[in-house]
Amino acid sequence: MSTQAIRFDYNNVMADVIGEHGLTEAEIEAALPHAAAAIEAVYAQRAELGWMDLPYQDTSEIIAQAQAVRARADTLVVLGIGGSALGPIATQTALQHPFYNNLPRELRRGPTLFVPDNVDPELNAGLLDVLDLERTVFNVITKSGTTAETMASFIYFREALAKRLGQDKLVDHLVLTTDPKKGALRQIADREGYPTLPIPASVGGRFSELCSVGLFPAAVTGIDIDELLAGAAYADKRSQERDPRKNPAAMCALIQFLLDKKGKNMVVMMPYAQRLRDVADWFRQLWAESLGKRVDRAGNVVNVGPTPIKSLGATDQHSQVQLYAEGPFDKLMHFLFVDQFQVEAPLSNAYPDINELSYLDGKSFSQLLKAEGEATQLAIAEAGRPSIAHHFPAVNAFTLGQFYYMLEMQTAFAGELYDINAFDQPGVEAGKIATYALMGREGYDARRHEIEQARGRSRSEFVI
Ligand code: PA5
Repeated sequence: MSTQAIRFDYNNVMADVIGEHGLTEAEIEAALPHAAAAIEAVYAQRAELGWMDLPYQDTSEIIAQAQAVRARADTLVVLGIGGSALGPIATQTALQHPFYNNLPRELRRGPTLFVPDNVDPELNAGLLDVLDLERTVFNVITKSGTTAETMASFIYFREALAKRLGQDKLVDHLVLTTDPKKGALRQIADREGYPTLPIPASVGGRFSELCSVGLFPAAVTGIDIDELLAGAAYADKRSQERDPRKNPAAMCALIQFLLDKKGKNMVVMMPYAQRLRDVADWFRQLWAESLGKRVDRAGNVVNVGPTPIKSLGATDQHSQVQLYAEGPFDKLMHFLFVDQFQVEAPLSNAYPDINELSYLDGKSFSQLLKAEGEATQLAIAEAGRPSIAHHFPAVNAFTLGQFYYMLEMQTAFAGELYDINAFDQPGVEAGKIATYALMGREGYDARRHEIEQARGRSRSEFVI
């Protein structure tokens, strides 16, 4: 398995966090006991943090339900948002053909997959235009079972199914992934008899990719979910190492925490592989919602949290890298590199006589992308900017599971370093409550009244 291990590097000429605008070795050394305490503190909570044991779950029920859907559907639509959508999207992008939905059926490993991930009317009505409802299954995913966006999507597509196929056919076209006991969706599932998959009570939304939330859509589209979990189990072993210097998740958490304290309060994740593009998006939610907190555990107002930014090499070299190289010294970069791509795309010897192009002769896209990644990393280092490099031997189910779990552990360790609760999201809840008030939900009249009054006081409206 070790040939499958992701390597990470934070102290060499290419990727370095040590330097004038970064850290000193002495600062890292002095903070190691803090990191060691963070490791102990997270493992002391393992019984309450259900996501930590997900690598060892029995996947037979998920696989059985996925097989049943594969037999009756040409398309799976995931209806969810936040932690209930970003993971399924990231896994699909990482492990499937880049134009998976456009491949002919015999070249795909399963049904096509759509994850609209928003309540934009044109998006959802547009999706309905292209679906063959007879051959579509909707997987509604919501831990709470009440999230407005997901429940609105459920109501919308359920109605379309009922009109097109009849009420009695709904059970063949819906699979509901939700809390085993609580929430409106669970109530509906029990009342209307839909097949369900449980989200364990102790697994929070953004830490749920490796339970039924992410595993079921992945299994439907033919991904080896046990291999994802094997990778996560490997990262679990690495994360249990009590010496922070030998624990990649703890070391990454510590470096980011220390840099944040020195004003590097933005974290850019920049994969040099299209497959990892949406993993950076998934990480953005994990890092932002977990660490962006107003109060610490003692209730002191701290307003902490580094800002995660997603970027993509080489695309964003022509959009963002100017800022990263020469703008304010407020960022840490994570470069994600891949040693072995699944295909090569070679270039011919097209223009040997044109000096500006002859260097491309006989090269390949992967050579160019790797060279661009290395060059950007070097330029960032030479500009005195801290960066960490993560090297994937290849992007596959094992390394992806490993990376997900490492980032989750890194987040939990960082929560301890900041001394905040990394597992709640009161800021998101406040927005949900205001939405309920504005949409006229019963019990939210007082909040609606407050918002209407505030609207009346607005003095900044103008016409462009
Ligand atoms: O991490 C979280 O808990 C949130 O971001 C949720 O994933 C998001 O709000 C969706 O919640 P739910 O799955 O309950 O619909």
